[in-house]
Amino acid sequence: MSDSRLLAHLSSMIVDSSDDAIVGMALDGTIVSWNPAAERMFGKSRLEAVGRPLAWLWPAARAAEAAALLDGVRRGERVRRETTLRKPGGGEVDVSLTLSPVTHGGNPTGASAILRDMSDRRALEKKLRDGQVLESLGLLAGGIAHDFNNLLTVVMGNASTLKALVPHDSREWDMCDDIETAAERAADLAGQMLAYSGRGMFVLQRVDLNRLAQEMAELLRVSMSKDVTLKYDLAAVLPKVEADLTQLRQVVMNLVINAAQAIGGKHGTITVGTRLARADRDWLAGCAHAADLPEGDFVFLSIADSGCGMDAATKARIFDPFFTTKSTGRGLGLSAVLGIIRGHKGAIRVDSEPGKGTTFTVAFPAGASLAPRVRGDSARIEDPWRGAGTVLVVDDEPKVREFAQNALQILGFRTATAGDGIEAIERMRELGSAVSAVLLDLTMPRMSGAKALPELRKLNSSAKVVLISGFNEQDAVRDFDGGTVDAFVKKPFTVDVLRVVLKRVMGG
Ligand SMILES: Nc1ncnc2c1ncn2[C@@H]1O[C@H](COP(=O)(O)OP(=O)(O)OP(=O)(O)O)[C@@H](O)[C@H]1O
Ligand SMILES: [Mg+2]
Repeated sequence: MSDSRLLAHLSSMIVDSSDDAIVGMALDGTIVSWNPAAERMFGKSRLEAVGRPLAWLWPAARAAEAAALLDGVRRGERVRRETTLRKPGGGEVDVSLTLSPVTHGGNPTGASAILRDMSDRRALEKKLRDGQVLESLGLLAGGIAHDFNNLLTVVMGNASTLKALVPHDSREWDMCDDIETAAERAADLAGQMLAYSGRGMFVLQRVDLNRLAQEMAELLRVSMSKDVTLKYDLAAVLPKVEADLTQLRQVVMNLVINAAQAIGGKHGTITVGTRLARADRDWLAGCAHAADLPEGDFVFLSIADSGCGMDAATKARIFDPFFTTKSTGRGLGLSAVLGIIRGHKGAIRVDSEPGKGTTFTVAFPAGASLAPRVRGDSARIEDPWRGAGTVLVVDDEPKVREFAQNALQILGFRTATAGDGIEAIERMRELGSAVSAVLLDLTMPRMSGAKALPELRKLNSSAKVVLISGFNEQDAVRDFDGGTVDAFVKKPFTVDVLRVVLKRVMGG
């Protein structure tokens, strides 16, 4: 082989073995060469590509970009940029593109394009960004949980206290009722954000997903259009999952409401299904943020709708906080769902196509270990029950203590207060068995509720302990080596909630 032929052979070998796509074109942009990497990247063979214009690889909406790049090359410019190109057979690819003029005897004769696939790097960057968003929102939600819920406790608590003091048919009662309702909505909103941060989990119990899904779907049926048919495809036998019941209700509610909204005013079906099955690597890889979960047996809950479906661009963003395509949406539903699922070490996956409906599948590990259990209740009923004895109120927020004192007095209790765990222990030492119940805040300076609990139990083993918190970390529950508490009340709460809970734990 002559030197020049050897060189030509070597050049073509290099081009053929490159991992980057290398495309040669004439000055007008007509493709004249197309290496194997280009075949892999764009899913088109050399025969199909040669003779096409460069714009063939550009999304129609950005065709002008290809033309401008070629103009630059004809002026002898070399261009490097990151862009998204079109796969002629469908789909897109993120690339880093280097476009250089090719000259012969000093005159431009064509151009070469070298394209590197950036999908993996983009995915990694997105993962990092998501992690940062999650982190900062988690912090924000932590602040909201503590401060916001304390504030709402004062608003809602005082409104409910006032309600108990004015006649039921007065204007004042109605106004208090409105305040209470507004505070409840604000608490819902804080709850969605808290859930997103993954810090919402608190009350773990064994949950029957069949029952939960059916109950929630039936509850939501009343608010759906009559044209929506609700169907069930439930496993005959399903192990219970270790989960926070309130949060799982939030998951089903958000998914079913989204499904109903996707159907809109049209005829359609929502199918709620459950099953026990194994999730393998492939299945988990298709989940949102679940890539690092181990394979294993999972309990699956799916909500499938025959609604509008989603395109790839929408699907990519649905879990972002505040992403919505609805005029009145807040875009918090799915981000809350994702946070809850993460908190439960579960996975969520969406399968959807425009016009073909959507299926959301959530998976919870089957047979997770039992964590300490606390019972919660937030039912609101009118009840003349009144208690007796002293309740020790432990909370670092003076206004919360004040409201709780007022509320407890309305319920017939005497009260004592403490601003943190250390004070609580002192009070308990003074009052001893006169204390029949303790309302214990979880997050306090100096000494938390969790730390104080074993000592309080030692000093008075018969007092009932009701944990109150707006901020709820699973870890906090794990810290309770003093045993379980008798009840849990989520901030903000009302007189009615206190009445129901205290009545139950004190056996009234
Ligand atoms: N079942 C579904 N079918 C089609 N699109 C859906 C479905 N579920 C969610 N989406 C899309 O995901 C977006 C985000 O959903 P998400 O529940 O987080 O917020 P939202 O429903 O818009 O508002 P919010 O839930 O806060 O009231 C929706 O706006 C919609 O575009
Ligand atoms: Mg929603």
